[in-house]
Amino acid sequence: DDSRLNRMWLWWVSSSTILWALFRHLTSPISPMLGRWVSMKFWFKQDGTDLDTLVKWAEHYPYAFPLWFGPFVCILNIHHPDYVKTILATAEPKDDLAYRFIESWIGDGLLVSKGQKWFRHRRLLTPGFHYDVLKAYIKPMSDSTKTMLDKWESYANTDKSFELFEHVSLMTLDSILKCAFSHNSNCQTEGGTNAYIKAVYELSNLINLRFRTFPYHSDLIFYLSPHGYRHRKACSVTHSHTREVIRKRKEALKEEKELDRIQAKRNLDFLDILLLARDENQQGLSDEDIRAEVDTFMFEGHDTTASGLSFILYSLACHPEHQKMCREEIMQALEGKDTMEWEDLSKIPYTTMCIKESLRLYPPVPGMNRKTTKPITFFDGRTLPAGLLLFVYGIHRNAAVWENPDVFDPLRFLPENTSRRSPHAFVPFSAGPRNCIGQNFAMNELKVATALTLKKYELIEDPTCKPKIIPRLVLRSLNGIHIKIRSVEPNM
Ligand code: HEM
Repeated sequence: DDSRLNRMWLWWVSSSTILWALFRHLTSPISPMLGRWVSMKFWFKQDGTDLDTLVKWAEHYPYAFPLWFGPFVCILNIHHPDYVKTILATAEPKDDLAYRFIESWIGDGLLVSKGQKWFRHRRLLTPGFHYDVLKAYIKPMSDSTKTMLDKWESYANTDKSFELFEHVSLMTLDSILKCAFSHNSNCQTEGGTNAYIKAVYELSNLINLRFRTFPYHSDLIFYLSPHGYRHRKACSVTHSHTREVIRKRKEALKEEKELDRIQAKRNLDFLDILLLARDENQQGLSDEDIRAEVDTFMFEGHDTTASGLSFILYSLACHPEHQKMCREEIMQALEGKDTMEWEDLSKIPYTTMCIKESLRLYPPVPGMNRKTTKPITFFDGRTLPAGLLLFVYGIHRNAAVWENPDVFDPLRFLPENTSRRSPHAFVPFSAGPRNCIGQNFAMNELKVATALTLKKYELIEDPTCKPKIIPRLVLRSLNGIHIKIRSVEPNM
C-alpha cells in the first residue's frame, strides 16, 4: 500500500544520503588527489596528442607549470631555455621515479648512476668516444646502412608505403654492435622480428605504463601484476643478449692474451675499454658494472638514434624541396661513391641543418627528469623546491624562442641564426655535465645514414598514414612511421 511505499522511499533516500555523506567525509582528505588523478587520465589520452596538449599548456605558462602523476607525485614541467640553463648547469641527480623503473633493465650504468660512481665511470668511458675511435666507426655505419637500403629495394617503385621505424632500429642495433662491441650480428637479415628489438619495444611501453599507473609505482604491486611478469620476461631477453656479447668478447680476449697485442691489432672499441679500464688505483669495473654499461650503451646507442633517423627520413619525405637540396649536396660530396668517409661528414652542411631541424621538431629524448637535492633559484628570483621534468619537446617548440615553431625550417640552424639564440633553446643531447656521451657518435651515424639513403632513394610522404607521436623512453609513433620510396635515377 501507499504508506508502506512512502516509508520504503523515505528509508532509501535517508540511508543513501547518510552513506554519501559518510563517503564524502572519509574521502575528503584524498579527494583533491583523486580529482587530479582522474583529470590526468582525462587529459592524457595516449592517442598521439598528449605532447601537443602539453605544448598548448606551455603557451599559457611562459616558463614552467606543475604536472601531477598520480595523486602524490608532482613535477615541474620546464620548457624555457633560461630555466633549463640553470638546471643543466648543476650536477643534480636523475629523479628516483622514472629512472628507478628503467634500472631493473639497464642497471646502474652511466645513464642512471650518480655521485662518485657516475664520475668515475664517465671518466673511464670518455676515451671510447675520442675522435680517433669515432673515425673508425664510419665504415661499419656505412655498411649497416647499405644493408638496410638493399632490403628496401623491394619497396621501391611499388607506390605502397612501408613502416620504417623497425627497419631503422635493426640498422642502428647492427651498427652499435659492430662499432662499440665489434660484434657482427645478422640482425638485419635474419628475418622475422628480432627478439632483442621486440623486448626493447615491450620494455619501453611497460616502463611508460608503470610511470602513468600510480599503483604500479609500488615495486610489490608491479611485481605481482601481469605487466610485472611481462617486464621480467623482456628484461631476461635483453640481459641474455648482452651476456652473450660480453661472453664472446671475454673468450676472444683470453685468446689474444696481452693488451699490447690487442692494441697492435685494432683500435680499442667500447667493450675493450670497459673490460680493460683501470683507475689510478688499478681498479677495474666489476662484472655487474660491465653488464650495466653494456645494457645502457646497447639501448641508448640504438633506440635514440633509431628514433632520430626515422623522424629525419619522415621530415624529408614531407618536405621534398629540402630533400632535393640535400640530395644535390650529397651527390656533389660523394662524387659517385656509394659509401661515406670521415672527410665527407663536413661536406654536407645543408643536410646537417635538416637533421638538426628534425631533432628540434622530433627530439628522440622528449623529456629528462631531475630531482633537486637543494632549492634551486632561477634568474628571475623564483625558487624551485621539488622534482622537475625538462620538457625537451616543449623547449623545442616554445613560441617565445622559435618563430612559427611547428614549421620545418632548416635555415634556423645557419650559424648567424644559431648565434642569436640561447644555446639551451636546442638541447636534443642535453647539456652540461650530464650531457649525452654519444652525441658525436650519433650525429655521425645520422649524417651517414641520411646521406646514403637520399643518394639511393627519393622519400615520399604517405598522407593517409601520419605518425601519432607518443613519448615512450624515446619518441615513437603509435602507428609507426610510413613513407614511400622511389629509386633515384643515376644521372640525378
Ligand atoms: C640521436 C641520438 C641520441 C640522442 C638524441 C641522445 C640524447 C641523450 C640525452 C638527452 C641524454 C641525457 C639524458 C638525461 O639526462 O636523462 C643522453 C644521455 C646519454 N646518452 Fe645519449 N642520445 C643519443 C645517442 C646516444 C648514443 C649513440 C649513445 C652511445 C653510443 C648514447 C649514450 C648515452 C649515455 C651513456 C648517456 C648518459 C650520460 C651520462 O649521464 O653521463 N646516446 N643522451
